[in-house]
Amino acid sequence: MRVEWAVSAQPWLLVLLAIFVRQSSPQQPATPLHPGGAINLFSRYGYLSISIRVVPRNDSEPWIFREPTVDVFRDTPPPPPKKALQKDRSLVFDGDFHMEFCDDVRQLMQAYFRDFAIERLSEPWRAFAGSWGRSAVARHLGINSTFVGGQHCYVLVRVARRRTNAKLEIPGLGGSDGEFPVLTPPVQKEADSVVAGNAATVDRFIRSFGSHYVSSYVTGNSLFQVFVYTPHIYARIKERLRTRGVAELSRSELASFFSPWYAEHTGKIQVASGNSTVASWAHDKLRMSFYFFSFASLLRLHGDARLLRRLDGLLTDEAVLQLELKSLAPAFRNPTTRKWFEEVLDNRLRLWEVNM
Ligand SMILES: *[C@@H]1O[C@H](CO)[C@@H](O)[C@H](O)[C@H]1NC(C)=O
Ligand SMILES: *[C@@H]1O[C@H](CO)[C@@H](O)[C@H](O)[C@H]1NC(C)=O
Ligand SMILES: *[C@@H]1O[C@H](CO)[C@@H](O)[C@H](O)[C@H]1NC(C)=O
Repeated sequence: MRVEWAVSAQPWLLVLLAIFVRQSSPQQPATPLHPGGAINLFSRYGYLSISIRVVPRNDSEPWIFREPTVDVFRDTPPPPPKKALQKDRSLVFDGDFHMEFCDDVRQLMQAYFRDFAIERLSEPWRAFAGSWGRSAVARHLGINSTFVGGQHCYVLVRVARRRTNAKLEIPGLGGSDGEFPVLTPPVQKEADSVVAGNAATVDRFIRSFGSHYVSSYVTGNSLFQVFVYTPHIYARIKERLRTRGVAELSRSELASFFSPWYAEHTGKIQVASGNSTVASWAHDKLRMSFYFFSFASLLRLHGDARLLRRLDGLLTDEAVLQLELKSLAPAFRNPTTRKWFEEVLDNRLRLWEVNM
């Protein structure tokens, strides 16, 4: 098997090891999540992880997305039917493995929601998790709440298996200037009633049809684990990986960095969807020993084709791994109205950001 180790230029992503990254064949989850569906971000700002499956959840219901959506664009394709998962026998593991260094809890949250983008919102993680207190952060990310905040630094390690991806491609969106998507008749009617200078007309539009639409997404499942360090040890490990690169570390050095020998606290291996079968598999099969420590670690997967092949079959289509929401500004052809819509939207977003 081929494992690539590369050091990324971005400061936030120090290490990236790709394991057979390849486009997967499209497979569909049985959810209303579909490109073009519009949602009202303000109806659940700070709480979106309740309606979009992005962190381990306790309920055994297999939902991925239960946020109400409205199709605002006439040419939005219907949600495709669910297809059975297919296995590509030639691959050991179709996905990627990366780790991200986080100086504090805020960076950890940013890292966890790295693949989520919401147009006109600078910190999209807040829309999903802004409401989480210390114990919710600890529970969702699999660490002891003593280590949330304060003088602690973190490394987030994640192994993601993508299953389905989709992107909205309809005439007039993201295309050339002066082109606009055709709206459905009720949406067009409401859009025509938006008056520049009158914020209430924008609020009414957003309440009826939404603020953003789903532009693209990727679903699948992932395993992740958070390692907690004291600032001093963290700085040493980060510097070591930055100057030397992962490829130059010996196996035992890598194992020691991600063990209780160096880490102040080793988080539990979590499953993004919360699937308990997968969680107990990880707990049993990904155990490592380092001196007198025995613990479950995602680093155990490194270089183990047999475990990766098994994991590839276990991580199915159960959670949202990436999501891009774009503003409904293209619903307004008139440049003055469009600018006004964006102004009111920005204003509402700032209000929510400072209040949560
Ligand atoms: C999971 O659900 C059970 C019963 O519904 C509850 O007792 C438990 O506290 C929940 N655990 C978490 C982590 O939410
Ligand atoms: C969390 O860590 C503290 C301090 O190390 C410890 O006293 C406590 O028992 C831990 N709690 C759990 C649930 O592991
Ligand atoms: C959990 O994952 C296993 C292995 O992929 C699968 O067989 C099972 O149906 C999943 N359980 C739920 C509740 O989704």
